[in-house]
Order: sequence, then C-alpha cells, then structure tokens
Amino acid sequence: MKILEERILKEGKALSDSVLKVDSFINHQVDPMLMDEMGKDFAEHFKDRNITKVLTIESSGIAPALTTAAHLGVPMIILKKQTSKILSGDVYQTRITSFTKGTSYELTLYKSYISKEDNVLLIDDFLANGEAAMGGSRLIEEAGAHLAGIGILIEKSFQRGRKRLLDAGYDVYSLARIAKLAEGVVEFVDDIEE
Ligand code: G4P
Repeated sequence: MKILEERILKEGKALSDSVLKVDSFINHQVDPMLMDEMGKDFAEHFKDRNITKVLTIESSGIAPALTTAAHLGVPMIILKKQTSKILSGDVYQTRITSFTKGTSYELTLYKSYISKEDNVLLIDDFLANGEAAMGGSRLIEEAGAHLAGIGILIEKSFQRGRKRLLDAGYDVYSLARIAKLAEGVVEFVDDIEE
C-alpha cells in the first residue's frame, strides 16, 4: 500500500536489522486518517469472505482492527494479554512468547463473544515471528470458528512469521512487506521484485 510505504520511509526509524520504529503514526501516536485508509483497504480485500467478526490483539492492533470492522460493518474483538491463567470456564487462553520483546502472556478470548458460526478476520500491526497470529488462530479454532484471513500492517518478510502462517494454510494480506532493514535503511519486497 503506497501511502503506508511512503509514511514508513518518511517517519519510520530502522533501529537495527530487525526493528522498525513507527511510534509517530502507529504504535504511540496514532494517525486516524491513515488507520481509516488501511481499514478500508483490508475491508475491500476481504469483502467477499463473509466476515462476521474482526479480531485483534491489544494494543497496537486495535486502531486498524476498529476501522476495518467499521468498513465491514461487523464487531471487533480485542484479544487480551493476561499475565496469568484465568481459572474459570469462561475463556479460551493460549500462552504466547514474544521473541522481539522477550515477554510471555496468556492471550485471552471470552467465549461469549465467539461462536462456531463466526468467520473471523485477524488484524495486527506487525508480523515478525508469527507467535501472536498463531496464538490468535489457536483460540479461533478452539472456539470452533473459522479463520478466514489475516491482515497485517507491516510484515517483516525476512522473519519467519509469514511462512509459518502460509504453511498453516492461512490467507495473509500485508499492506507493507519489508524485505530488508538495517540502521537507517528500509527496503520493501516490491523494490526487490520489480
Ligand atoms: P510475532 O507475534 O510476529 O512473533 O512478533 P514478536 O513476538 O516477535 O513481537 C512481539 C511484539 O513486538 C508485538 O507487539 C509486535 O507488534 C512487536 N514488534 C515486532 N517487531 C517489531 C518491529 O520491528 N517494530 C515495532 N515497532 N514493533 C515490533 P506487542 O508486544 O503485541 O505490543 P503492542 O501491540 O502492545 O504494541
């Protein structure tokens, strides 16, 4: 997506060969107009999939998931990051370990907000190793619902997340695909393919 790539080039900061900072428009300060454009793009891409719910993982996935859900006219559900297991039968939970941040949490979904009839679109800001998206998919499958697609704002295509999700049979649509990062350098997949 052109406007996202341009914004990354203008304001993104490649801190190393693996981390891209986008705090000025996605992760800390949020650009609502850009979020709306990205939500419109996801909604257009997945419009024929009969999506009934948009799921995301707190916190940076919430803004693009909300605009996507608004354009599709369906509810959005936030998967919560709990520090410990909830000992009741009301929730689905799965443990996630973040390689990027070195932290673990219990990804949590209340059973009352999902059913076997749901066709789910999962939206998140970054795809790195795919831990969060794979965890989301486990919860959706545990609920008996169908994961119809995964929408990502920024995919670091040089990390293993995309391959893991494709190997698991999921449809992955990323608005910006980064082929290479280095201090002060960002290259998109299209730059190399073209
Ligand atoms: P994975 O889910 O794809 O395996 O990713 P990983 O565990 O490696 O990343 C965990 C957290 O780090 C996620 O945020 C993810 O969005 C973020 N992240 C990964 N790579 C980058 C990067 O290059 N730049 C930035 N800015 N973030 C990155 P989170 O812990 O869920 O935090 P948040 O959603 O509350 O912001």
